[in-house]
Amino acid sequence: MKYSKIIGTGSYLPEKVLTNFDLEKIVDTSNDWIVDRTGIHQRHIAAEYETSLSMAEKAARRAMADAGITPADIGMIIIATTTPEKIFPSTACLLQQQLGIGGCPAFDLNSSACAGFMYAFSIADQYIRHGSIKYALVIGSEVMSRILDWTDRTTCVLFGDGAGAVILGQSNEPGVFSTHLHADGTHKDVLYLDSILRKPMAVEEALSIKMSGNQLFKLAVNILGDLFDETLAANSLNKSDVDWLVPHQANIRIIQAMAKKLDLPMERVAITLEEQGNTSSASIPLALDKAIRDGRIKKGETLLLEGFGGGLAWGSALVNY
Ligand code: COA
Repeated sequence: MKYSKIIGTGSYLPEKVLTNFDLEKIVDTSNDWIVDRTGIHQRHIAAEYETSLSMAEKAARRAMADAGITPADIGMIIIATTTPEKIFPSTACLLQQQLGIGGCPAFDLNSSACAGFMYAFSIADQYIRHGSIKYALVIGSEVMSRILDWTDRTTCVLFGDGAGAVILGQSNEPGVFSTHLHADGTHKDVLYLDSILRKPMAVEEALSIKMSGNQLFKLAVNILGDLFDETLAANSLNKSDVDWLVPHQANIRIIQAMAKKLDLPMERVAITLEEQGNTSSASIPLALDKAIRDGRIKKGETLLLEGFGGGLAWGSALVNY
């Protein structure tokens, strides 16, 4: 029996930081409101020359160095992004070219929004378990700052830019115990980004996130609670078996509710929200990389990864690191 295992992680954050106090000068908001309602203090914003591709490449090279492999070892590249370099070719194909490799499958998952990393991670896990590839490069990379309406205080204070990458490698020991994916299109209007291809419309109208925050908050708490039950039951484990929660970073109150559901103290939750905001599909690998590199997450510990976003789409993975 073959498994996939996380053998390397890497991340990249743009240098520019936008604090809540900076935002007070742009829209009618306050540091106190943002911190109280979301937990966010600041976010990173990509420079003009930076893109989801350039950030993905930096995170990928760090992850490969961490795993001790070279680009030639990679058997599949998946990039989760709602902010791709081009509509096509995929950002993953462009990255493949920049890494100087060819031949392996490379594709973007751009429709699962903030759940995109869990979808990408699950697909890579299936291919490795099946034995068809040995190493997969799984990335979440986002320039959310380019799809925000900077006059809309209900959304522009929430998001940030960045990239995170994971190398999954084949292993005889688990590894990834299981992954779980879901979607429910009946909630399609709760969070979406329109497309200029659907009908003629102004670019500004098409390229800005629309969200019913309150509704999404309630949906997230419910679906994630059920998702945790499903993930643990699939592995005949109890919540006390989970050492770490590595959640999508959307709102500290959602994360606190999820930690409570698992009876985990907040010290056992990988959080980057305060400094990074919601980086959509990049948030899980960014949080994972940080907690591994600063020594909090240790080899052999059991991690529960979860993400949710537009669709609605949501997913989890239970992992022995
Ligand atoms: N600064 C100040 N006031 C703001 C504000 C801001 N940035 N954004 C909204 N408000 C105001 C609203 O206009 C509203 O004012 P009103 O009562 O006069 O109408 C008030 O604050 C409360 O708004 P509400 O939307 O009910 O706040 P909330 O407690 O639900 O918090 C979110 C809003 C967006 C922070 C919260 O709903 C949330 O995080 N939801 C989940 C979002 C999410 O997960 N998104 C990512 C999914 S991948």
